[in-house]
Amino acid sequence: MRSIGRAAIPLLPRVVDNRPMSDHTMPLPDNVHVITHPLVQHKLTLMRRKDASTSTFRRLLGELAALMTYEVTRDMPMQEVEIETPLERTTGHVIDGKKLVFASILRAGTGILDGMLDVVPSARVGHIGLYRDPQTLQAVEYYFKMPQDMEGRDVIVVDPMLATGHSAVAAVERLARLSPRSIKFVCLLAAPEGIAALHGAYPDVPIYTAAVDRQLSDHGYILPGLGDAGDRIFGTK
Ligand code: URA
Repeated sequence: MRSIGRAAIPLLPRVVDNRPMSDHTMPLPDNVHVITHPLVQHKLTLMRRKDASTSTFRRLLGELAALMTYEVTRDMPMQEVEIETPLERTTGHVIDGKKLVFASILRAGTGILDGMLDVVPSARVGHIGLYRDPQTLQAVEYYFKMPQDMEGRDVIVVDPMLATGHSAVAAVERLARLSPRSIKFVCLLAAPEGIAALHGAYPDVPIYTAAVDRQLSDHGYILPGLGDAGDRIFGTK
């Protein structure tokens, strides 16, 4: 796989008004992809609303995840296959979905998985259990299960919120030890601090997000954000 080396953490510029950063012309590293498709932005805005119900939030997250998967898998390798239509033989193109692993960071990553699996049903799924120590905000691992033979697989790490970046860095660090062919990171919302942390530690890992928000709060919440993604997906608050 490509080297997934650590590097110095670059500082990203901050803005002073409260619009998401994606609304500004902010320079981002080349491999940070903000998915600006109108359908993605529309659904994200509905999800951000505090009066969105649990079922609405969950449904929108699934739809958004499917749309984002379309972008994230754009460069997937394809193979030629000979097929027969009802009229004649022809050559088509297929992907090898089994090579793809969606690595979900528990628990909120689960909310994205279903939508991604709707689009790539043959993908394999791994889980990484990380919780945020409330004092230090550092990621602590409690569970890790991936498919066998990770070499040669393409991994897409999923977590709705790239906040401090601690969980994302811990997950990528753990996965990189298994030497997959590639690692990408997908989230709904990213804070500049999270991008700086993940891109700073793993500059070769592309980040896909629907928006880059303004900043983190003192408690590590993304602002303006959408609140606690896990609570909103599972209705636990
Ligand atoms: N995790 C969340 O669920 N929300 C945030 O804003 C930050 C981290």
